[in-house]
Amino acid sequence: MDFHLRPLPYGTDALEPHLSRATLELHHGRHHAGYLAKLEKLLEGRPEADADLESIVLGASGAVFDNAAQVWNHDFLWRSMTPKGGGKPEGALADGLDEAFGSLDGFRRAFVEAGAAQFGSGWVWLVCDDAGRLRVTATADADLPMRHGQVALLTADVWEHAYYLDYRNERERYLDAFLDHLVNWSFGAANWSAARARR
Ligand code: FE2
Repeated sequence: MDFHLRPLPYGTDALEPHLSRATLELHHGRHHAGYLAKLEKLLEGRPEADADLESIVLGASGAVFDNAAQVWNHDFLWRSMTPKGGGKPEGALADGLDEAFGSLDGFRRAFVEAGAAQFGSGWVWLVCDDAGRLRVTATADADLPMRHGQVALLTADVWEHAYYLDYRNERERYLDAFLDHLVNWSFGAANWSAARARR
């Protein structure tokens, strides 16, 4: 796999004032980069080093899994957000959220509640489950939907390093800001469309 840190799809100040430059510099430049560096060290001289990241995630356990999954999760996180994001989804994803959660507000409540209730570190996701339905899930530490037969559509990182500088311990306020101002609905819609096409 390629052990170069994938650049952010926007500048480190592009998500201000909702996520600060300091948060993005630390989160991408130290935490994300740190997982990648640890993974490279763990795989040095091993045949898995030549595999793609998804295969490593699906086949690994222990520290290799933790670091590989965190690289995948963070690459996915950066694309789950966009400058001037938030607002409302359109088209098939809007209809799907209405069907699955009753309304966009119903989805928002489920997403914020699941993220806030995740004890300790983890991730909150919008996924397409193995029956093709939209669901909100939360995973602990580095765990991720592909290990549960689900396809990730969008995610928010609920590790404290994702929000503590900007929101202190107020995880719900961070998740509200994520949905109001940051979430990249176009990315989620494209992922859902691709997930349904593969079924
Ligand atoms: Fe993170």
